Amino acid sequence: MSENSQIQADTSEGHRFSDEEHLDGHFSIAYNAYESLLRAVQIQAGWHILDAGCGTGAFLPLISELVGARGQISAVDVDAENVALAQARVSQAQLQCPTKIEQGDLLDLPYKTNAFDAVWCANVSQYLDDNNLSVMLEELMRVVRPGGLVAIKETDITAMSLNPPGPRATWRLYETWQGRGDAYLTQLLRAPELPVWLSKSGLTNVHLESVFSVASQPLSPKHKTFLAGVCIYHSQEAAQCDLSESDTLLWQQVGEVNSADHILNNPDFYYREANIVVIGQVPE
Ligand SMILES: C[S@@+](CC[C@H](N)C(=O)[O-])C[C@H]1O[C@@H](n2cnc3c(N)ncnc32)[C@H](O)[C@@H]1O
Repeated sequence: MSENSQIQADTSEGHRFSDEEHLDGHFSIAYNAYESLLRAVQIQAGWHILDAGCGTGAFLPLISELVGARGQISAVDVDAENVALAQARVSQAQLQCPTKIEQGDLLDLPYKTNAFDAVWCANVSQYLDDNNLSVMLEELMRVVRPGGLVAIKETDITAMSLNPPGPRATWRLYETWQGRGDAYLTQLLRAPELPVWLSKSGLTNVHLESVFSVASQPLSPKHKTFLAGVCIYHSQEAAQCDLSESDTLLWQQVGEVNSADHILNNPDFYYREANIVVIGQVPE
């Protein structure tokens, strides 16, 4: 475990948690949850899918399996480095279907109206303020054909829990941290409201699926690395919050990941995170 963990590294576009190291680490520890949420969309063989905000392209192999050789994938991301990485990975992976990855903004998509059967947009809404979330949903609905699907996947941090100290300590931290006016945290906390957002945008048959990912001892090396980053990030944010003396001390200790009595070495340690997908249909 390294106290230099890069969990809060930003991309050149300024997005937290969107660099290669963080995306690969999170994708690998949450793989089962991510796969089951993608499958919940019920993408059909032969469909043309847009992976909106594709990052380093982690979902592309799974999407290509679902659409098969008769299908097609387009992928778009605003960040040039992530687009280059996704392109390099796809050219090595030889996916089952034609796949085109390009740089572009989800608020002004470089695609024709009704171009896709479905759009998959994973872990992106957290970067958008309310106004831009509305604009993005409008754009995604524009490029999906009538009857097609819009699927928004997010992390639901309202269910995140590090044990010990337990979820209440995290809730107290988030409450105080939000009071500092961190828009990013507010946008992350918006995940449970996404079904309302999709319905208000005009999508029909809106429904939500959620999956918990848990990790307990013995933690694998990849879990230890990822969770050390989670601990350090929360500790750094807590240090900027006006918490009680006991909570200040608690989060300081959570950040000391190399200490022998750190929570990640506790035999009863337990981590839980929730991921959701909200799916809606473009009206016929
Ligand atoms: C946390 S990453 C998720 C990447 C990928 N979907 C995944 O789940 O592994 C968020 C991605 O959204 C991209 N992004 C954020 N805002 C965007 C926008 N307005 N247009 C296009 N991409 C955007 C970032 O560049 C980053 O690659």
